[in-house]
Amino acid sequence: MSIKKFAILFSGSGSNLEAILQKVHGKTFANTKLECVLTVCNKKDAFGIQRARKFGLETVIIDNKNFTNREEFDAVLVSEIKKYDVDLVVLAGFMRILTPVFTQEIGAINLHPSILPLFKGAHAIEESFNSDMQVGGVSVHWVSAELDGGKIIAQRTFERSKNMSFEAWEDKIHAIEHELLPETVINLLTK
Ligand code: GAR
Repeated sequence: MSIKKFAILFSGSGSNLEAILQKVHGKTFANTKLECVLTVCNKKDAFGIQRARKFGLETVIIDNKNFTNREEFDAVLVSEIKKYDVDLVVLAGFMRILTPVFTQEIGAINLHPSILPLFKGAHAIEESFNSDMQVGGVSVHWVSAELDGGKIIAQRTFERSKNMSFEAWEDKIHAIEHELLPETVINLLTK
């Protein structure tokens, strides 16, 4: 049996972090044990810190407010990740624009709440809901220096139901995210 190690980076509620920890962390798939060895957050009060603790993981806080530019923050993030010899880094609601200081050094995937390349950026759920699109969805992609622009790995869509409310749209996106991201982590680390 082999062991593959991964890290999770997040900024807020951490519901996707929890979904991965529940479905993937410490579990064995195709004779490969998958272990989350590092959780990192850029906000010291994020709720995800408590969620990670339930799984025995103490989150490393790297507060972006302590840095004068993105490159300095990214350099500290990279050096922290490199201490752990991970096979994959997972961005699960990590709300930072990353520079080449990070993207040239770290193989990372990102979760995005739209059918990329549509609705890039921080307001994808609202913008997709307010559009004429009759389908919504979720993407997982490799992280590149272009915001939400790296190669797409996995996508899942749903149909807009008649008179669908914003809350229902958002709930559907989160429900899909909680399935798609753990599945993608398993697929990437066991192939
Ligand atoms: C998720 O909806 C994720 O797709 C989004 O942040 C949310 C985090 O939720 N990410 C982006 O918009 C990235 N551009 P969570 O903290 O409950 O996992």
